[in-house]
Amino acid sequence: MGIMELFSPVAIAVLGSCVLYLFFRWKNLRGPPCIQGWIPWIGVGFEFGKAPLEFIEKSRIKYGPIFTILAMGKRMTFVTEEEGIDVFLKSKNVDFELAVQDPVYHTARIPKNIFLTLHEKLYVLMKGKMGTFNIHHFTGQLTEEFHEQLEDIGTHGTMDLSKFVRRLFYPATINTLFKKGLFLTDETKVKEFYQHFQTYDEGFEYGSQLPEWLLRNWSKSKRWLLALFEKNIEELRAHESVAGHSVTLIQAMLDIVEMETRRFSPNYGLMMLWASLANAAPVAFWTLGFVLTHPDIHKTVLEGISSVFGTEGKDKIKVSEADLKKLLLIKWCILEAIRLRAPGVITRKVLKPVKILSHTVPPGDLLMMSPFWLHRNPKYFPEPDTFKPERWKEASLDKNAFLDCFMAFGGGKFQCPGRWFALLEVQICIILVLYKYDCRLLDPLPKQSCLHLVGIPQPEGKCRIEYKQRT
Ligand code: HEM
Repeated sequence: MGIMELFSPVAIAVLGSCVLYLFFRWKNLRGPPCIQGWIPWIGVGFEFGKAPLEFIEKSRIKYGPIFTILAMGKRMTFVTEEEGIDVFLKSKNVDFELAVQDPVYHTARIPKNIFLTLHEKLYVLMKGKMGTFNIHHFTGQLTEEFHEQLEDIGTHGTMDLSKFVRRLFYPATINTLFKKGLFLTDETKVKEFYQHFQTYDEGFEYGSQLPEWLLRNWSKSKRWLLALFEKNIEELRAHESVAGHSVTLIQAMLDIVEMETRRFSPNYGLMMLWASLANAAPVAFWTLGFVLTHPDIHKTVLEGISSVFGTEGKDKIKVSEADLKKLLLIKWCILEAIRLRAPGVITRKVLKPVKILSHTVPPGDLLMMSPFWLHRNPKYFPEPDTFKPERWKEASLDKNAFLDCFMAFGGGKFQCPGRWFALLEVQICIILVLYKYDCRLLDPLPKQSCLHLVGIPQPEGKCRIEYKQRT
């Protein structure tokens, strides 16, 4: 073989491919272990999609505290222990806004430039209005709203527990944060609203990822909800003309949005609607579910309520900040329910390479953390699978701190701005329900659905509650 033949194009191509192959292998050695399957682009999308929560935990056991999952063209790098979580929460090279912008576009049609321009201003507003200094402004109205709904529910009955809590939460939240009586006027409209919101909520996770033409029903419900906001937007804006009427959260938000553009006000309405309803109602479901299936805890909770409000069950009681402080066990039960039913994942976008343990996570990856699994690590939460409200004794709740490694509300710069509102709503709701009614579950508490990763998981099946007014 002559020397010239050695440099033939074929030989150069083969040699080049070998060098590239070795280069990428070397590069990947520095990256976290990658679970990529054998189908290009799809990766392990099918296995992951079937049971995502299980897949994450199995991968952790097999590959260690940091690993990358390749699915549907996305690289998701999961961190499960201190060092990775620290980077997730604090590094300047990972970003919340760019991680959620795409899902926000798919689910509420808010374009990237508008979202990025307005996000921080809106976040600061929400954080202030629903923060620890101002949260007490909501106590009176929420109590009134829940009373009104409980009156409608009547003196006794049996209902699916999920429906029961939605029936209370949706109107109470909308009337408080949006505008009193905004949607819920006639019965058919209310029913339609429930149906469309439920379809939108159930399909939210797929809707945030997949093209809309694959999700016809979901898309229809999204359009219905957007049209509802379009129709009502003038009414929502009307606060300026009503003297002495204080501005609701959404009205204050629209003032900011409309400094930039009027076009996307309904879209922001939809986004806030979902954020304010999707997690709080399932938390009330799980809290009531856990309390009613733990007789000792149920008894102590009832004794607490009776000691503060009496045993009558008929009065239209007012709940004050001081009352809430006396009923700490109820807050512990809520936080413990949230710990056990925490969101499957939260996410950030990697902007520049970040080093975690001995690996380098490349830019473009989605950095993922699972509050659900973190809360099941016995290193951080002893007996992690047991419902133990008393573990919250250790938390400095009076200083507004949760337990270490409790991550259900996310963390870092953009931690959930609605967390104090959610806790307040659920506390008031549980107090009023258990004050008014003797309650019991007629079915075993269902498992949680393992299909979704976003937000508080829903129950897998039905569970009926029987309620009778106390006499
Ligand atoms: C127990 C119920 C709730 C849970 C578990 C929850 C959880 C979360 C989580 C995990 C995040 C992402 C944070 C991060 O990635 O670091 C978030 C964001 C958010 N939450 Fe909540 N949330 C709840 C209730 C609420 C309520 C009642 C509201 C509104 C009234 C609300 C409004 C929001 C908003 C607007 C964001 C996005 C913040 C941003 O754009 O920066 N949440 N929530």
